[in-house]
Amino acid sequence: MRYIRRPEWALPETKVTPESAFLNRRAILAGMGLGGLSLALPARAATDPYAAAPRNPDFADAGRPVTPEEINGNYNNFYEFGSSKDIAAAARKRLKTDGWTVTIDGMVEREVTLSMDDLIAQVGLEERIYRHRCVEGWSMVAPWIGAPVSKAIALAAPLSSARFVRFESFFDPEMAPGQRQSWYPWPYVEGITIEEAANPLPLLVFGAYGKILANEYGAPVRLHLPWKYGFKSIKSITRITLTDEQPLGLWEELQASEYGFWANVNPEVAHPRWSQATERDIGTGERIPTVIYNGYGPTVASLYEGNPVAMAAGDRLWR
Ligand code: MTE
Repeated sequence: MRYIRRPEWALPETKVTPESAFLNRRAILAGMGLGGLSLALPARAATDPYAAAPRNPDFADAGRPVTPEEINGNYNNFYEFGSSKDIAAAARKRLKTDGWTVTIDGMVEREVTLSMDDLIAQVGLEERIYRHRCVEGWSMVAPWIGAPVSKAIALAAPLSSARFVRFESFFDPEMAPGQRQSWYPWPYVEGITIEEAANPLPLLVFGAYGKILANEYGAPVRLHLPWKYGFKSIKSITRITLTDEQPLGLWEELQASEYGFWANVNPEVAHPRWSQATERDIGTGERIPTVIYNGYGPTVASLYEGNPVAMAAGDRLWR
């Protein structure tokens, strides 16, 4: 008989979630009309789960101003809709998110496919102000609304043999003209280790700036890994797969020497073609020093103890 060790995240959420977060979620569900609590929420909040999402006090201040929405929403990387930063209009016009589902499968006890409403009802929503550092040398600060990745994965009860989490985006060249460019290995794929997924930082993002996620940010659900270069934070996710094989991301498949699996922000390790010592904040326009792990070292550094290769941005340094 095969013995399946239940990972911590397969426990009932009351056992693994700090009580405050659990109570917050109950409040959110109540706000959405799904829970049993009656709360004195403002009228707008009672009908709008994004506006009602409580700010997580651990991520209430990113130490830099939040990037204004009109700047952030007009400076995006979303290659499915074009290779410039100016893809917002195309993404708004073309990306259709009605009826979108996310499947969580692979090495799990029970595969699940959920609509966005069902997924949000099960994982809850909170607001976190996160710094974002792109490998190209620019950065911004975003007020995301979402839920820890670990909560979503727990819904499928991962097997103890799962070692990585693979995220896959949609594939629809009719909808996304960039996907007609066959030299990219579509669909967009990214991955992290199971230990990284269990860390509190990885966020599944359903909203931003107090509202449902705008298409240009990767609607209806994207990932954000604030200590890794931005290309790891895959947009418009359709599938989350638990696996024992290290996932091969789209950029790694294209150019492994420049875009490695780990991609942890590190000012000391230059990209093969440019320095990573500084970055330009697209909100303030200032050039500022880049910080190891984008400043999230206290939460994530222990994941990489004894693994020096994980500190290199490019695979060439560690293959
Ligand atoms: N996800 C998909 N599906 N397609 C993409 O082109 N670009 C990545 C990442 N996720 C990308 C993606 C890159 S390079 C970055 S820097 C961030 O999304 C950009 O997120 P933003 O537009 O919200 O700043």
